[in-house]
Amino acid sequence: MELFKVYPLYNITPVKAKGVYVWDESNTKYLDLYGGHGVISIGHSHPRYIKSLSEQLSKIGFYSNAVQNPLQQTLAKKLGKLSSCEDYNLFLCNSGAEANENALKLASFITKKSKIISFNNSFHGRTSAAVAVTDNKKINAPINLQQEVTFLPLNDIELVKKELNKNDVAAVIIEGIQGVGGLDEGTTAFFQQLQSICNKKEVPLILDEIQSGYGRSGKFFAFQHHNIQPDIITIAKGMANGFPIGGVLISDKYKATYGMLGTTFGGNHLACAAAISVLDIMENEDLINNVNTVYNYFLKEIKSVLKVKKVKGKGLMLGVEFDFEVAELRKKLIFEKHIFTGGSINKKLLRILPPLTLSKNEIDVFINALKQLLHE
Ligand SMILES: Cc1ncc(COP(=O)(O)O)c(C=O)c1O
Repeated sequence: MELFKVYPLYNITPVKAKGVYVWDESNTKYLDLYGGHGVISIGHSHPRYIKSLSEQLSKIGFYSNAVQNPLQQTLAKKLGKLSSCEDYNLFLCNSGAEANENALKLASFITKKSKIISFNNSFHGRTSAAVAVTDNKKINAPINLQQEVTFLPLNDIELVKKELNKNDVAAVIIEGIQGVGGLDEGTTAFFQQLQSICNKKEVPLILDEIQSGYGRSGKFFAFQHHNIQPDIITIAKGMANGFPIGGVLISDKYKATYGMLGTTFGGNHLACAAAISVLDIMENEDLINNVNTVYNYFLKEIKSVLKVKKVKGKGLMLGVEFDFEVAELRKKLIFEKHIFTGGSINKKLLRILPPLTLSKNEIDVFINALKQLLHE
């Protein structure tokens, strides 16, 4: 059997990783400014994380959601405390798309409506409803186009109001900071007015924090930069440092009924152990504080790189925009300077999503590499 080839691959085979570095099979060391697509939060192969997962595996790795699993409550308590979202309830699943799928389904159960408002350039995943609310026709199959979705431009509250006044909307879904779309984000005024109009119309506001959450923006959630309180929050990526998991934080005002949502693997023992140890490490190592320190240093240092047009995003969820397409630059960064970075819909933007443990020294390495490649 061959693989179903859906990914265009760089010809690099990582075989080990530690902290913010990855090594390939010929022992070449790479600086990981991509975090496997914003997944590595506490750094690769963290000893405490390895210990928790190994110990859990030697006790019990999995049992179904038909019996008690106190690790789920421990995770919910810790997450509520660290994120200041204690008034939410947690549903656990296995990926980002699944988190959004369940959030949208829940909103539709609550409102008994089906139309969703989403935003231009959004990315919310590849399952049925999640891909339908993703602004990319190429990845929507005919079966996905059955969903009713209205895409609106970011930051145009009047258009949102007009749409909500039709009284047929089940939910509004928005990323804290757009990832795949190229690091655009709503303004504070927009987020606040959005929250207020959603409250007034009793339409759940879903904040997709799958990429922007878990400390990456310099606060636990990116929406916390705007002082709002969404009705539903979705999480995945950084949550368990690569162990597959997703979650939906649901406002206490919405009541659960048995069977409303469900999954076989979601919230299993191993996933919970991984997610608990990520939160412990984030707290012990004060990683959100580190994100802000390194971000401020980055903002200062990047000014010395000529040809940078703009820096977008926040914390360690950054986009460096140039006035040329960056595909060639990304290749040179990987193969000549041994630095992983990411791309986005915006072809002129270099995406930076490193582990939250990154230090100023690695910023220096990146800035020097950019200068060597661009200042000739
Ligand atoms: C904002 C956002 N939402 C949802 C997803 C989908 O997550 P997953 O790939 O885990 O299904 C992603 C993945 O990149 C994302 O960036």
